[in-house]
Amino acid sequence: MKKISINNQNVLGSVSEDVIKALNCAAADAIEKLDKGTGAGNDFLGWVKLPAETPDALLDEINDAAKAFNGCEYVVAIGIGGSYLGAKAVISALSDAFAEYKPAKGPRILFAGQNIGEDYTYELVDLLKGKKFGIIVISKSGTTTEPAIAFRILKELLESQEGKAVASKLIVAITDAKKGALRKLATEEGYKTFVIADNVGGRFSVLTPVGLLPIAAAGYDIKALVEGARAMQAATAQADDENIAVKYATTRNALYQAGKKIEILVNYNPKLHYFAEWWKQLYGESEGKDKKGIFPASVDFTTDLHSMGQWIQDGERTIFETVITIEEQSHEITIPADKDNLDGLNYIAGKRIDEVNKMAELGTRIAHVDGGVPNMLITLPRLDEKNLGGLIYFFEIACGISGYILDVNPFNQPGVEDYKRNMFALLNKPGYEEESKAIQAKIK
Ligand code: PA5
Repeated sequence: MKKISINNQNVLGSVSEDVIKALNCAAADAIEKLDKGTGAGNDFLGWVKLPAETPDALLDEINDAAKAFNGCEYVVAIGIGGSYLGAKAVISALSDAFAEYKPAKGPRILFAGQNIGEDYTYELVDLLKGKKFGIIVISKSGTTTEPAIAFRILKELLESQEGKAVASKLIVAITDAKKGALRKLATEEGYKTFVIADNVGGRFSVLTPVGLLPIAAAGYDIKALVEGARAMQAATAQADDENIAVKYATTRNALYQAGKKIEILVNYNPKLHYFAEWWKQLYGESEGKDKKGIFPASVDFTTDLHSMGQWIQDGERTIFETVITIEEQSHEITIPADKDNLDGLNYIAGKRIDEVNKMAELGTRIAHVDGGVPNMLITLPRLDEKNLGGLIYFFEIACGISGYILDVNPFNQPGVEDYKRNMFALLNKPGYEEESKAIQAKIK
């Protein structure tokens, strides 16, 4: 059975092996803090041992809850940030790229509450009118404005179409055990609920019901996902030379110290687009604080080689790349020969498209390294639940290690509150009277 692996040899033109290895002590210290809960943010470490500690009975309960949506044409997962991106990432990675144009095998999963776009919401309501649909509403705090607005609107639509009693059986809420408006509402309306543990922050919650219920509702194997995460948890528990999370965390910190301030996560399979969005939140929200932190960016290649390729090859040399490559594809398609060869492509006739993609990838990596962009390569044997579970846990544990090496608290997000305070002040939310006056004075 092939495993997820990492190769950092193509960073050695920018930082030496010794410089990277010098961070091993800090990484070992970080692993101990994560294991024993002795570091900053230690009240948010529930995710560290979560895969091994997740009872199969919970996975069965989630699968059963997903079955409540059988017969629905759509399930709308409502949530934002950590209550959205994990499920979106996994479902996009596993879905047929053209699923929405092909006959559905089960409910289609839609997302709401991840923005406050009026047209988006209108068009979603327009789609759902007269359709059988269910709702998974997810908010750890239970008070976030974006999902609360979406839920209010979609709940009203569902109740108007199904009646209150049936609607309440088509709504599942995932929130805090006790606190928050969503918990209160779920209790009063009698919804099926799942709890987000206090010690698991939003961006580390994809392997809890937050991510697992929408993924199960989409028809994917959450047991295999958790199994992959469990294997990665075991493989990254010790600070030894085999630990790929240590290799990733130490290498990116060494690059950061050498002036490489931006990390670009690169894929050569567009199905990983949202996986990169999830990764950006994980690393951006965990490390971007105290005026420090690598800026996480992402591109889809080869698509973006025709837009961002110039900058990456030739722009300011403050970047490094981490490529996720998928060794084995799920399908085969071969380039046909053509007797006239007017397009000049016969030199690759008979090759699989993936062979061409892999040469584009290799050629690009070499060009970028030659151009001063250090490159790390993460190899995923194939794109399936087990490997995605492993990759999720790999990036989570590496994020904890990396944040501690950077000497920040990787588990808080104080900066996210600023926009909320201003928005509430501008909307005259009760309790924000002083802030309202102060912000009005700033408007020019
Ligand atoms: O990582 C985080 O903590 C945030 O991105 C939250 O997930 C996001 O703000 C949504 O919060 P909540 O689940 O409380 O609605």
